[in-house]
Amino acid sequence: MSILEPLYRRWPPTWPLQPIPPTTWARQQPTYQAADPRLITAVLDRSQQRPSGNWYVFAASDTIHSDRPLGATVAGIELVAWRDSRQQLHVGPGACPHLGAPLASAVLDCDTLVCRWHGLRLGPDAGHGWAPFPSHDDGVLAWVRLDHIGNEPSLDAPIIPARPPADTHLAAVATLTGVCEPVDIIANRLDPWHGAWFHPYSFTHLEVLDAPSRHGTDDDNDRFVVAVTFRVGGRLGVPVKAEFTSPEPRTVVMRIVDGEGTDSVVETHTTPLGSGTDGHPRTCVIEAVIADSPRPGFAVARRVHRALSPVLRSAAIRLWRDDLAYAERRYQQRSYQQRSLTGRGIGSRLSP
Ligand code: FES
Ligand SMILES: [Fe+2]
Repeated sequence: MSILEPLYRRWPPTWPLQPIPPTTWARQQPTYQAADPRLITAVLDRSQQRPSGNWYVFAASDTIHSDRPLGATVAGIELVAWRDSRQQLHVGPGACPHLGAPLASAVLDCDTLVCRWHGLRLGPDAGHGWAPFPSHDDGVLAWVRLDHIGNEPSLDAPIIPARPPADTHLAAVATLTGVCEPVDIIANRLDPWHGAWFHPYSFTHLEVLDAPSRHGTDDDNDRFVVAVTFRVGGRLGVPVKAEFTSPEPRTVVMRIVDGEGTDSVVETHTTPLGSGTDGHPRTCVIEAVIADSPRPGFAVARRVHRALSPVLRSAAIRLWRDDLAYAERRYQQRSYQQRSLTGRGIGSRLSP
């Protein structure tokens, strides 16, 4: 017995940090029976039918500046992004219309890009056979609308989930790239049953309290509700209830609905980058942790945002290394099944 056991027994039940009953990984309740592949596939299929309006997240808002442009890629399309002197976001094709110079290396002068090769000026207005794309800055993430890639009816603005108020929240954005398609990452997020098994260093005592119906319709508010304890260290953790939803085909949102940090969200956005040199697709995971808490300590943490962000970011990246392995494995298995069925090469486009 731990020498801290008497302390744990008298632990106030109202504190957000709670002692975790000891468990052995292999002795957890198996979840494979509840994690019905047909249910996960049905919920995934419904998520893929929701409109996105052709909007793609391509960067964290705070990585785009007014003194130098940022280069990005979405679905094989090279992009350049910058801010003007009023901090307005602009996004356009990343190749100069003259002879193709990379505009990510252009110089910003009087709110316009000046191409390094021959000095062509390109600004927020269309000209020289070059035109900016519609873009949106939601304060945490930067979006671009690519109608010729999405091929859906366009929307004026992206689908952005409800978030804690901007004046009190603390946001951190982590970015990783995997060899898979966006749908593989969304599928991983729509399987909440893997949490305590696959990420025992972060989650324990996970129970799926509510799951969507396998036979629901697109109008259903598909959501999973999960009771889970986030491990903090040693025998201590933070028990919460969280819901998972997919408001549009490339996003899954986890929202704390009960417990410490209620209304805080983790938004997982997936953006196709295009094919790698090996012919396999690359997908960028852009995950925003947007936290809020009425506790006084949280206001202090917010003030030291710059110091805290790397900590939040590294925790998200550890989880995502494992979840990317899950998504990449799913992609590999789909590729194998597709090759077996069609006898074609790996590079052939896969559907969910
Ligand atoms: S390539 Fe840009 S001005 Fe010539
Ligand atoms: Fe996971």
